[in-house]
Amino acid sequence: WASKSLFGMKVMITTGATFEAIDPVRGITNISSGQMGIALARACRRAGAEVTLIHGQVQVALPDGMAHTIAASSADAMYRAVHQHIAVQDVFISVAAVADYKVKNSSNQKIKKQVGVAPVIELSENPDILASVSALDNPPFCVGFAAESHDLLNHARAKRIRKNVPLLVANLVGEAMGKATNHVTLIDDEAETELPAMGKDEVATAIVNRVAELMP
Ligand code: C5P
Repeated sequence: WASKSLFGMKVMITTGATFEAIDPVRGITNISSGQMGIALARACRRAGAEVTLIHGQVQVALPDGMAHTIAASSADAMYRAVHQHIAVQDVFISVAAVADYKVKNSSNQKIKKQVGVAPVIELSENPDILASVSALDNPPFCVGFAAESHDLLNHARAKRIRKNVPLLVANLVGEAMGKATNHVTLIDDEAETELPAMGKDEVATAIVNRVAELMP
């Protein structure tokens, strides 16, 4: 548990679910609980890193001892928070379940019910935060996650290449999201390592150890 493998390093982690507003009281979100990213934040601290945690909606308590803890609700807000602090980071671990789309026609006023007329929600694409970080001139060591419902490894391998990240953590939605345990496969240039299902703290420690091994 008590590795010091990231001693003195700066690590940024995103976690939780984004919330895309429809109007002042409604929005689009997802079932991510934030637990995996929070476990990683703790594991990075144990490994001696200085952690910046950027979070959307989370269903568990945020950890103590972070260098910075920044709330960001929407994907756009998370993008801005990440890029405000990314330049000094050595490692970026993108765990947040970021909405692929936001509401194009969101309303500043609460949408009133009109009998017989269903409102139409239009969507537009959100920025891909992880891809934007890995595309920086001098990027931190980037870790991505892939939560898939089927054909996990093929989708995850493709995602690692598409997002241009050295390490991708693959998990099935049903084995990961909203749960206290996770069953992951670590995919990098050298290996694909399937770990047993275990508590998210233990998964986080294994991920941190792999990051420390792979870092230049
Ligand atoms: O493409 P997909 O959403 O499945 O990719 C998942 C990975 O990309 C995760 O690491 C997630 O945090 C990140 N991501 C992101 N910005 C988005 C969508 C996903 O950083 N808009």
